[in-house]
Amino acid sequence: IDAPTPKALRVRENCEIVVDARSGRIEAIRDADVGAVGNRKSDAEKEKAGAENIVRVDMGATQVVCPGLIDCHVHAPQFRQLGTKTDVPLVEWLEKYTFPEEAAFTSITHAERIYTALVRRLLRNGTTTALYFGSNHLPATRVLADTCARSGQRAFVGKTCSDQFLPDNYVETTGASLKDTESFITYCREKWPSEAGLVKPVVTPRFVPTCSAELLDGLGKLAAKYNCHVQTHASESVDEVAWVAELYQNEKRDIKILQRFGLLTDKTVLAHCCHLYDEEVGEVVRVGAAVTSCPYSNILFARATVPIPHFKSLGLKIGMGSDIAGGMSSSLWTNMRLATLQDRIDSFSPRGGDKPAGKENWVVDYKYAFHVATVGGAEALGIGKEVGLFEVGMRWDALLVDYGLEDMAFENLRDDGVSVVNVRDGFERFVNCGDDRNIVGVWVDGKMVCERK
Ligand code: GUN
Ligand code: FE
Repeated sequence: IDAPTPKALRVRENCEIVVDARSGRIEAIRDADVGAVGNRKSDAEKEKAGAENIVRVDMGATQVVCPGLIDCHVHAPQFRQLGTKTDVPLVEWLEKYTFPEEAAFTSITHAERIYTALVRRLLRNGTTTALYFGSNHLPATRVLADTCARSGQRAFVGKTCSDQFLPDNYVETTGASLKDTESFITYCREKWPSEAGLVKPVVTPRFVPTCSAELLDGLGKLAAKYNCHVQTHASESVDEVAWVAELYQNEKRDIKILQRFGLLTDKTVLAHCCHLYDEEVGEVVRVGAAVTSCPYSNILFARATVPIPHFKSLGLKIGMGSDIAGGMSSSLWTNMRLATLQDRIDSFSPRGGDKPAGKENWVVDYKYAFHVATVGGAEALGIGKEVGLFEVGMRWDALLVDYGLEDMAFENLRDDGVSVVNVRDGFERFVNCGDDRNIVGVWVDGKMVCERK
């Protein structure tokens, strides 16, 4: 099952997929009955090349494979804070809880412990690719990159940059922030040099208020010099928008400011963006940048939403993010459900969909949300030809899902012993009320990186 469009799932039943474990790419997708011929062929090849390298995974009656999820916004050093400290608005939350929490990542052993647990948790949830903010610290952010590579997760990682309005024990100097960013970029490029490398560096100004103009300018130049991805927060909440307008009396708005410093490119991913004007969306689209919707965090902290169908109708690339720990869940499935619920409420508002105000217009359902969390994320990160769908030549980043397990073993409740009538119902039920217990296997790049026995 995959979702080439927001409107419909593609369900290929009785299907056989051949993956080359060395390249990690899908070699063939074919009807399993026709596949008998293919099997004989590969048997012959097998004798030549050595049979032991072929691994066969037969799927159970309630099992499906789907593309792995792509989390386009995670604060790795906030993992320990997940689900706590939710009592104050965003800017106060940063100052009171979050900056002190991140300041602890001067310790490498602390970073190793937290990052190992985080990456394992995300892989178990079915997140095969993640776009991470690290802390301000270079050594800890190297640990994060190494942890992703060692665990086999596809990752885009940034050393977060902030040289003002931070506590004394966490703020960095402009010079150190730039030097450490460049050093992190070269570290990643040397360690994972090819296009196929699992980990990529990201230029990461935290957000406009905590970065001086000089720092933003320097980071824009580094992004251009190394042709790097860029990530930051933009137009998130009312208090953040007001703060930016106060600091930049001319530009007033994040989009204009990022643009002035060369930080709005076709490799930029902007978290949140709940408060973007349509003209600004138009500019983001023109440049080729993307936005991450973080439903949980947006409702909790921004007290706002990203009108996904409306923004998509303007041509915007949108991925989904957990925003750990601004969001209260490490699971993108949870965020997908919230995106669906949010759309039910937004459907009455002027920006809720592509119909005039007042007309109810439900657009986002489990299929749409799944599309955003897979294809949407891949497009946002510029890897839409590599992951997010099952096509020949694309990478095998995939989940083996059993929708008949645990709480969803509904066959016990039916006289005929059948779990659900068809695979679509089974997948819908999994997306809407399943969890990591239903994810029995996770592959990244053709390798099994997480398995539930
Ligand atoms: N803006 C600046 N930093 C942060 C952060 O850590 N989380 C969220 N949600 N918004 C931010
Ligand atoms: Fe965030």
